[in-house]
Amino acid sequence: MMTVDVGLATRAYPIHIGSGLLAQAGKPIAPLVRNGRIVVAYDRNCADHLDTLRNAARGLDLIPVAIAPGEASKSWAGLQALVSSLLDLEIERSECVIALGGGVVGDLVGFAASIVKRGCGVIQIPTTLLSQVDSSVGGKTAINVPQGKNLIGAFHQPRLVLIDPDVLGTLPDRELRAGYAEVVKYALIGDAGFYDWLDANLDRIMARDPAALEHAIVTSVRAKAAVVAADEHETTGVRALLNFGHTFGHALEAETGFSDRLLHGEAVAAGMGLAMRYSVERGLCPADDAEKVAEHLRRAGLPTGARAGGLNATGATLAAHMAHDKKREGGRVPFLLSRGIGAAFLANDVQLADVAAFLDRDTA
Ligand SMILES: NC(=O)c1ccc[n+]([C@@H]2O[C@H](COP(=O)([O-])OP(=O)(O)OC[C@H]3O[C@@H](n4cnc5c(N)ncnc54)[C@H](O)[C@@H]3O)[C@@H](O)[C@H]2O)c1
Ligand SMILES: [Zn+2]
Repeated sequence: MMTVDVGLATRAYPIHIGSGLLAQAGKPIAPLVRNGRIVVAYDRNCADHLDTLRNAARGLDLIPVAIAPGEASKSWAGLQALVSSLLDLEIERSECVIALGGGVVGDLVGFAASIVKRGCGVIQIPTTLLSQVDSSVGGKTAINVPQGKNLIGAFHQPRLVLIDPDVLGTLPDRELRAGYAEVVKYALIGDAGFYDWLDANLDRIMARDPAALEHAIVTSVRAKAAVVAADEHETTGVRALLNFGHTFGHALEAETGFSDRLLHGEAVAAGMGLAMRYSVERGLCPADDAEKVAEHLRRAGLPTGARAGGLNATGATLAAHMAHDKKREGGRVPFLLSRGIGAAFLANDVQLADVAAFLDRDTA
């Protein structure tokens, strides 16, 4: 087992990562238990993993609260139902709720924990690759509202994160690939050596080799934890680097109406391919690096450009989605470009008209 610490003074917490960890979760959880019980809000698709946790926590009164799978649970209605359950259980501020599931359950439970009785604790036990390398670490919690995705939420750091790569054994292939895009993201942002390792070990990861998954997860979580410790509330620009590929990606997701036609990670993969090629066009990045990345994403079964998910939007349409983002960011498009594999940076001089013209030229 490896432990990564998130260095946030009074809000510091450990992330334990290891194959077989869920079956031994009783020990790390014990110091956070109050009143001999623990509430576990879990994704119904993770019922088997709930059983593993129950066995690991023998002697504790484990109270399961089921959450329906899917993004729709991250809603006002889903929040109301969960908060009501927690209040009916008379949860106390000193207690922790366990979030057992992917990013949907993690975001919803984290947000509920941040507001119930002005805040109780949360333990994240992420069960998708995306949530293991990204959403379970860093304290961002949210629900979706009719006005947009993730618009209502809070920063609420977990007390503990437990990551067991073995739970990915039940994850559908498509979800594994989508989560993998976020792993590649860390390499492209700041770790060329990790990129080379991923390129050499891609087949092992896709075959869910536990040691390979563990290395990919530990390296990703270290990268995320360092960024979070440096810029917890996304105020200095450091945390913005984690959005590499996401400005293009969000435009593609918006174009599908955030439907299953394109999973978030698939859109991010396409967005990273585009960000690399746009950087090449601007003379910032070696063409060879962009080609290597596109080839790697293809090998991982991921899209590499704006034709992702069979989309065929014009550059102007996609740029309009980006302009919508721009309003939220107070007039600036937080555009992340690349000087090569492992060297992403925040550019302030990106014109949306230029991006739109690039998108019309790009054919991937
Ligand atoms: N808070 C953050 O920093 C942050 C970062 C990135 C994404 N997110 C959010 O995360 C969410 C996406 O998370 P996700 O990709 O994990 O999606 P998800 O939680 O919807 O899980 C994907 C699917 O896999 C199923 N599943 C989960 N674990 C499983 C397992 N072990 N075996 C079988 N099936 C399993 C789920 O039921 C669901 O159908 C989005 O709402 C996004 O906004 C948050
Ligand atoms: Zn993402």
